[in-house]
Amino acid sequence: MGSYKNIGTILIPMFIVLLLSLNYMPCKAQLSTTFYDNTCPKALKTIRKSVRDAVASNPRNAALLVRLVFHDCFVQGCDASLLLEGTGSEKASPANDGVLGYEVIDAAKAAVESVCPGVVSCADILAVAARDASVAVKGPSWVVRLGRRDSTTSNAAQAATDLPRGNFNLSQLVSNFRNKGLNTREMVALSGSHTLGQARCTRFRGRIYNNSLPIDSAFATSLRQNCPTTGSDGNLEPLDLVTPNKFDNNYFRNLLTNKGLLISDQVLFNGDSTDSIVNEYARSTSRFKSDFAAAMVKMSEIDPLTGSNGVIRTLCTSAS
Ligand code: HEM
Ligand SMILES: *[C@@H]1O[C@H](CO)[C@@H](O)[C@H](O)[C@H]1NC(C)=O
Ligand SMILES: *[C@@H]1O[C@H](CO)[C@@H](O)[C@H](O)[C@H]1NC(C)=O
Repeated sequence: MGSYKNIGTILIPMFIVLLLSLNYMPCKAQLSTTFYDNTCPKALKTIRKSVRDAVASNPRNAALLVRLVFHDCFVQGCDASLLLEGTGSEKASPANDGVLGYEVIDAAKAAVESVCPGVVSCADILAVAARDASVAVKGPSWVVRLGRRDSTTSNAAQAATDLPRGNFNLSQLVSNFRNKGLNTREMVALSGSHTLGQARCTRFRGRIYNNSLPIDSAFATSLRQNCPTTGSDGNLEPLDLVTPNKFDNNYFRNLLTNKGLLISDQVLFNGDSTDSIVNEYARSTSRFKSDFAAAMVKMSEIDPLTGSNGVIRTLCTSAS
């Protein structure tokens, strides 16, 4: 009997440790690269074709797709909650005002539904489309683990509190990303997605008139011509004025000469701790690309719904 007791004193704590470790196994452990291999073997090829077509017809679509996964994953995780429509939805929130490209995801979803209905989640399509968009504009590739499921609700209030804004200072950016499990270096690498796409006057006005950050004077003069102190809110300027449709490191090189378009861009190179990271990426495109790819993998695995949580939506815009 004494030996039973001894075995119990060893086995019971072991059993508890096992239970705890199972419990703490993050949901992301359930994502897998082979998730659709049997249920929808054509899923990845189908999404890639949709993305290639969209980027060929308008190169800005690459930027829009890379941005969508960020705005989805920062608000209640990578669950396609951003795509749900309706009053009080994330999509309708001021924090997502100006986010575009939804119709590219809808088209990819329709194409995937036609080959295997009800199988592939909108959340996985967002993650895969961002990767394919990067590749389509000469950016890095990365392996996307799959098996995310879709939420049935979205959270406009969380969109307002959790998404960073273009007038954030460095400490606000650092803590905003840290709240999502991303470190400072990953924040800088991910900001490098501003090598693509455009911003509206209303979002960069504060940078060109009213802030104490250094700004190249010719750059400022030219921006002010297209963005007066009032009005013309929708006028666009490229976030990377050199090569806005190509994934390269010019975004970081622009920061070295005070040509960042947003306050949140230029604060990354303004005499603080992130200067060294910006310098490193400005020197080495390959370093930037490999860090960007790794950070995109991490960002696109924030709190996914997996297993029996969530649903597979038929339409990305609607939960029912
Ligand atoms: C670091 C914090 C960030 C801030 C404060 C920020 C803010 C902004 C703002 C204000 C715009 C212009 C939007 C408009 O005019 O409507 C923009 C555009 C964009 N952002 Fe960010 N962003 C950040 C990080 C990211 C990340 C992590 C990604 C993706 C990985 C991303 C991807 C993009 C892209 C591609 C565009 C251009 C979209 C277009 O052409 O319409 N941004 N961002
Ligand atoms: C950043 O902005 C926050 C909020 O406005 C402010 O409290 C903080 O002092 C600022 N930090 C720096 C370093 O400017
Ligand atoms: C700049 O700031 C001043 C003082 O806060 C304000 O009166 C003015 O409207 C601002 N201008 C722009 C273009 O934002």
